Amino acid sequence: MFQISEKMQKLPPYLFAEIDKKKKQLIAQGRQVISFGVGDPDMPTPERIVEAMRKAVKDPSVHRYPFGKGRSDFRKAIADYYRKYSDVDLDYEKEICVLIGSKEGIAHFPFAFVNPGDITLVPEPGYPVYQIGTILAGGIPYFMPLKEENNFLPDLGKIPSEILDRAKIMYLNYPNNPTAACADIDFLKEAISFCRKRGIIIVYDAAYHELYFEGKRPTSFLSIPGAKDTGIEIHSLSKTYNMTGWRIGWACGNEELVSAIATLKENIDSGTFEAIQIAGVECLSGPQEDVEQMRSIYQKRRDILVDGLKNLGFNVKIPQSTFYLWLVVGCDSFSFTEKLLMKANIIVTPGVGFGPSGEGYVRFALTIDEAKIKLAIEKMRTLINGG
Ligand SMILES: Cc1ncc(COP(=O)(O)O)c(C=O)c1O
Repeated sequence: MFQISEKMQKLPPYLFAEIDKKKKQLIAQGRQVISFGVGDPDMPTPERIVEAMRKAVKDPSVHRYPFGKGRSDFRKAIADYYRKYSDVDLDYEKEICVLIGSKEGIAHFPFAFVNPGDITLVPEPGYPVYQIGTILAGGIPYFMPLKEENNFLPDLGKIPSEILDRAKIMYLNYPNNPTAACADIDFLKEAISFCRKRGIIIVYDAAYHELYFEGKRPTSFLSIPGAKDTGIEIHSLSKTYNMTGWRIGWACGNEELVSAIATLKENIDSGTFEAIQIAGVECLSGPQEDVEQMRSIYQKRRDILVDGLKNLGFNVKIPQSTFYLWLVVGCDSFSFTEKLLMKANIIVTPGVGFGPSGEGYVRFALTIDEAKIKLAIEKMRTLINGG
């Protein structure tokens, strides 16, 4: 009866919502499903943060519209975090804008800079929201393949010049979902100089910046000279503090770009609940032992999964960051996923769902406990042995 807009019609089905639907259907059928599907932390938000929220929410002054770029105490805490861990200086008044989760910022940003017919450069396989935001703004995504032989970095030299002439934004995401790759300093320098020369904005998605192993902290995009002239970093508390449900993140970097996001948000959503921002201050300014602990839990899970898959004969690349494992399966990723699901009740995400270059891979999210990971390995062993 009602006609969906042309832009909405162009959107692909939202991959993770589809996976979640499938999982719920199987559970409703009484199946014991082990899900490595959606990257949603299974551990609770640390108590110190929940307590800060509990206290904050009792104060009626936080019950009103938040407006603006966000609370200054939270933005100061963000600036301190960048100074302390990445040696990056940010002016909290002009260069930081609080978001309702990084997804919100990623989805809305193109409205500020993309005109109908403009192009954005989107990594594939990749987080679907880069192309979704582009399409909703009337733009056209141009996909940059991330290939293993290039360490899952885009080959900038392969982008045709007629595409570059129309490109407004380049999205980059490291540590990367789904490949778990990190970007090295040389690549970041190259991307910044490449985009700066052409007036292309870099939107650098750092949602997984704090999820690294063996103490190897990834390089911050904003720590590279020239980064602030050409782009913004979008970050989030979701994965670092197990807060996906709280909806809080931020955009920071270039003043003009940050200011455009703030204007856009004033017109769309009025900002993030202030009590959540106060809890955000506790996240970044309080003791960080819980983050250390979380990293070591993911590292243990990673090691169990890596060893298990290696024992089953898979060629496994050990992830150094994120809570994902990107596995070459040597066949088409949908049939692999379908078989695991139907015959072993295990959910993994087919790589091709993240883009055509994800064909032949599947993604495991390490957001389930060690016992379930071990059980999944045993079920896969039975399946492989023809059981
Ligand atoms: C690469 C990437 N960016 C951003 C997000 C969104 O995170 P949030 O909106 O919870 O901050 C996700 C979530 O899975 C992600 O994988």
